[in-house]
Amino acid sequence: MINIIFEQPDGVEKQVTATEGANLMEVAVANGVTGIVGTCSGSMTCGSCHIYLPSQIIEELGAIDEFEDDLLEFAEVERKEGSRLGCQVKVTSSMNGMRVEVPQNQ
Ligand code: FES
Repeated sequence: MINIIFEQPDGVEKQVTATEGANLMEVAVANGVTGIVGTCSGSMTCGSCHIYLPSQIIEELGAIDEFEDDLLEFAEVERKEGSRLGCQVKVTSSMNGMRVEVPQNQ
């Protein structure tokens, strides 16, 4: 199991366990992390799973998909260097202990 810490909008941290291969939106929703909605269930049309990842993980993930890039560009929430859509990021073993920042709103 892989431990991931979500920094929720209210400042409360929630540590959850995730299985390799699951996506971060699913993990967050299944564990009741506040601020991650996942309205479109991962079909990349809503942007309500916007998260901020550490730079080391961003580097490991490599190039971002063109459609994900577009959706982030027009997201309600400020885009940062670590911005990704949680539904498009699969959990890997190198994410053990990772901290994920959840935006103030979606
Ligand atoms: S859940 Fe809709 S874009 Fe990720």
